[in-house]
Amino acid sequence: MAMQDKVKDLLERRTIARLGGGEKRIEKQHQQGKYTARERINMLLDPGSFEEFDMFVTHRCSNFGMDKEHYMSDGVVTGYGSIDGRLVYVYAQDFTIYGGSLSETQAAKICKVLDQATKVGAPVIGINDSGGARIQEGVNSLGGYAEIFQRNILASGVIPQISAIFGPCAGGAVYSPALTDFIMMVKNTSYMFLTGPKVVKTVTGEDVTTEDLGGASVHATKSGVAQFIAENEEEAVAKIRLLLSYLPSNNMEAAPMVECTDPIERVEDVLNDIIPDNPNKPYDIKNVISRIVDNAEFLEVAPNYAKNIVIGFARMGGMSVGIVANQPAHMAGVLDINASRKGARFVRFCDAFNIPLVTLVDVPGFLPGTGQEYGGVITHGAKLLYAYGESTVPKVTVTLRKAYGGSYIVMSCKQLRGDINYAWPTAEIAVMGAEGAVEVLYSKEIKAESDVQKQLEITLAKKDEYNKLFCNPYTAARLGYIDDVIEPRNTRYRVIKALKALQNKRLTNPAKKHDNLPL
Ligand code: HXC
Repeated sequence: MAMQDKVKDLLERRTIARLGGGEKRIEKQHQQGKYTARERINMLLDPGSFEEFDMFVTHRCSNFGMDKEHYMSDGVVTGYGSIDGRLVYVYAQDFTIYGGSLSETQAAKICKVLDQATKVGAPVIGINDSGGARIQEGVNSLGGYAEIFQRNILASGVIPQISAIFGPCAGGAVYSPALTDFIMMVKNTSYMFLTGPKVVKTVTGEDVTTEDLGGASVHATKSGVAQFIAENEEEAVAKIRLLLSYLPSNNMEAAPMVECTDPIERVEDVLNDIIPDNPNKPYDIKNVISRIVDNAEFLEVAPNYAKNIVIGFARMGGMSVGIVANQPAHMAGVLDINASRKGARFVRFCDAFNIPLVTLVDVPGFLPGTGQEYGGVITHGAKLLYAYGESTVPKVTVTLRKAYGGSYIVMSCKQLRGDINYAWPTAEIAVMGAEGAVEVLYSKEIKAESDVQKQLEITLAKKDEYNKLFCNPYTAARLGYIDDVIEPRNTRYRVIKALKALQNKRLTNPAKKHDNLPL
């Protein structure tokens, strides 16, 4: 063959490979409101930046007449490219080839991407759209999954790993996304579950639809498995690009610094009035967050799960920060099992990837009751405590109002190596609120008094005494547990100054094989 013919042959092979499972199956994919693997990669990456690997890979299975049917790329498109000019690795399962099912060779392609990304320190985005294990390949496919999981585990905390679920993701296949840092799902076209509706019906007798069992809304609200959901694939890839803009490429780097056009010294007078006079009245913590971060931009993570704690990424003075804040507008901002787990995982992600933590505290305590105790709130609450205590990134904490009991300690207090701890003048840092304290300390004395009017007077006097003593920031400030009491309207300026001062913070934990986080 002459050279020109050889080049022509190459181009023809490429054209065939790019057609995946063929026009008909592509059409079916489009009819279902889904894009193909290559279309998805093109939407995600900077235009023209994609470099594909292993386009000519085919399966090696001969069971069930498979040796007579081969498709190039074998159900997954892999390679690297850039997002906002920064290197990222990608793989996208191609549902048009054997339903994107995972063969031994497909697994090898995904592993190649994970290995290279880990070696060079670049994020990996995996787009999942698959019927699960390639049935014809049996245990070879299962081994392939295990190879991927192993790499997800070793890459965890080294490079950011993001999973996009753009179709089915069922059975053991769900564990690769579960091992990664963030899961993005698309409403109506994606689902994740360990066992599908038919098996559920057989085993438990429950009737449930695919959507109600493992759709995007379920995982964003009930299970907390998915941190992000989108209306469609376009919105999903845009959110993934946005998320990456806050993250460093690996654990040895800092997140990209962005030029800050929002004045650092911006004063927000409304913050001086945001805390209601009545301590039992809620307010929306997101109104505080949006006023202190750059350009009011806040990428909330898991916004619809455990709403009593708000977590997400923002920039302050151009620096990426992870924000953790109690939400008084939902269950009074109380900490419970789900909020503790949500907060802990986020704190650990930020710490692994050198993203400073800004914590806004207004928490009445842990949620009491058998539901929580039987569910193991002791262990789950300890996760958040552990995450803050082990973290070595800069930690700036602002106590806005309540910081009662154990939750004072958990929410990045001074003694958990909080670097700079501020309080608003409205802060109440105490073992509990005045009501509870007076009940515990003086109920006998009050009951001993026969006159109801006198009982009331004693109660009020004791409450007043307690409030003066503890329901303020000054007792903690006198002890140095609070570095300064600040005017609320200056919060942005004071936090950014603190973050700048802490930029070169160096702190390491004792050497160990690994920790034993209370799982
Ligand atoms: C081989 C598969 C496949 C699979 C789908 N296909 N799943 N081929 N192995 N697991 C093929 C189909 O034969 C079909 O081929 C094409 O992909 C599209 O599938 P359809 O069924 O036509 O598509 P759709 O109607 O959209 O249904 C999608 C689906 C369904 C719900 C995912 O295909 C399905 O139920 N698949 C089986 C799912 C499953 O049980 N997987 C194993 C799970 S256990 P043609 O040639 O017609 O285009 C598992 C264990 C993992 O994954 C453990 C890891 C530790």
